[in-house]
Amino acid sequence: MADMKAKLELPGNDSIELPVKQGSLGQDVIDISKLGSTGHFTYDPGFLATASCESAITFIDGGKGILLHRGYPIEQLATESDYLDLCFLLIYGELPTKTQYKEFVATVKNHTMVHEQLVHFFRGFRRDAHPMSMLCGVTGALSAFYQDSLDVHDKQHRRIAAFRLISKMPTIAAMCYKYSIGQPFVYPQNSLSYAGNFLHMMFSVPSEEYKVNPIVEKAMDRIFILHADHEQNASTSTVRLAGSSGANPFACIAAGIASLWGPAHGGANEACLNMLEEIGTVDRIPEFIERAKDKDDPFRLMGFGHRVYKNFDPRAKVMRETCHEVLDELKVNDPLLDVAMELERIALEDEYFVSKKLYPNVDFYSGLIMKAIGIPTSMFTVIFALSRTVGWIAHWKEMLDQPGHKIGRPRQLYTGKTERDFISHADRQP
Ligand code: SDX
Repeated sequence: MADMKAKLELPGNDSIELPVKQGSLGQDVIDISKLGSTGHFTYDPGFLATASCESAITFIDGGKGILLHRGYPIEQLATESDYLDLCFLLIYGELPTKTQYKEFVATVKNHTMVHEQLVHFFRGFRRDAHPMSMLCGVTGALSAFYQDSLDVHDKQHRRIAAFRLISKMPTIAAMCYKYSIGQPFVYPQNSLSYAGNFLHMMFSVPSEEYKVNPIVEKAMDRIFILHADHEQNASTSTVRLAGSSGANPFACIAAGIASLWGPAHGGANEACLNMLEEIGTVDRIPEFIERAKDKDDPFRLMGFGHRVYKNFDPRAKVMRETCHEVLDELKVNDPLLDVAMELERIALEDEYFVSKKLYPNVDFYSGLIMKAIGIPTSMFTVIFALSRTVGWIAHWKEMLDQPGHKIGRPRQLYTGKTERDFISHADRQP
């Protein structure tokens, strides 16, 4: 296609022509990287209309509710792939061959244990520390234990660090849970699947045999798949920005975990379940719907709305089916599901939510499934972080693989005081 241009009229009868870049899917972008030469910057708090990078990993069409990972629809991946299969796809760009898959799984299993000294690191936390605070701290501390994989300019270091993070995140996540309930840590059991091993480390105790429930194992793996990556969301953008300074991979992933923790982002699944419990019964839903509409009330309907999706979040659709499957299979009759289903029905009919295109998002159903599996609310975002680690790594790797990448350094619109002279203590007001 002929080089498309956008012409920007500037103050003072000046103007500049800016190149328009086209991707393989989605909106065109206006390349403003040369705009600074005119003495102007753009202003876009929250990056509502700003592409921060080129990426080939995930495509989202918010209007149509489409989510592709390397071109494959999430609906197909969620039902036909498994999490490690998806990890290979996200990182390397293609589905693994049978041999590649076997080798990838074997390598992941080689790294599931953590350095034994890490056990002492946990001892410094109070038992009532939130699991996310432990996950954030321990992940950042990994750079103190794995100093042979910190050089981000060394491809082999990047590869080993990526495997260590994917392999050890379930082990560390389960340790956060065990520590918070005062139970002994459980070593990984590599004869189990990735999801099965996580459930084993979460729920087995030395005094009894633990058998992984295949329905729960499949639901857990599907939750991992559905949370694996989501383009340039807040936590992924945080990892990219941290990585652009050359920070080590463990520090970058710890930064992503910190950003994900917010209730507007990955903390929404925990907040959503707490909200359903606060609503308690179907007859109290209207009261909360009114609060969500009230501009003076900070209350938001957690699990609803999305910066990009102005249609059903395709992950929520798959999660909804899985939610019913798991609750039926486990014969769980959870009154919160009744509240959730009625809340969804009302919200999808209510003018406020319809006009603002606020649909249930990925977090709306995941909490109900995890609660049915026996996972405490405080662990929901930990599991989101466990799953999203591969997405963060894929984007971190993609950025470092791109020749000429620079440190991220946004500008600002300064609205502070103009220059003024210092006032000594002696001359100040009493
Ligand atoms: C995730 O980015 C990603 O991809 C994130 C994620 C991922 O996989 O990484 O998908 C995971 O973070 C999902 C989102 C989880 N968060 C929640 O469920 C928290 C509740 N949702 C809201 O906080 C909110 O919807 C956000 C933060 C998700 C999006 O916020 P925006 O961008 O401000 O939403 P918007 O611009 O579309 O809002 C439009 C209007 C606004 O009102 P007006 O200023 O136009 O009057 O709708 C209102 C918002 O105030 N609104 C809500 C609402 N969400 C938006 N009102 C009530 N309840 C809500 N949930």
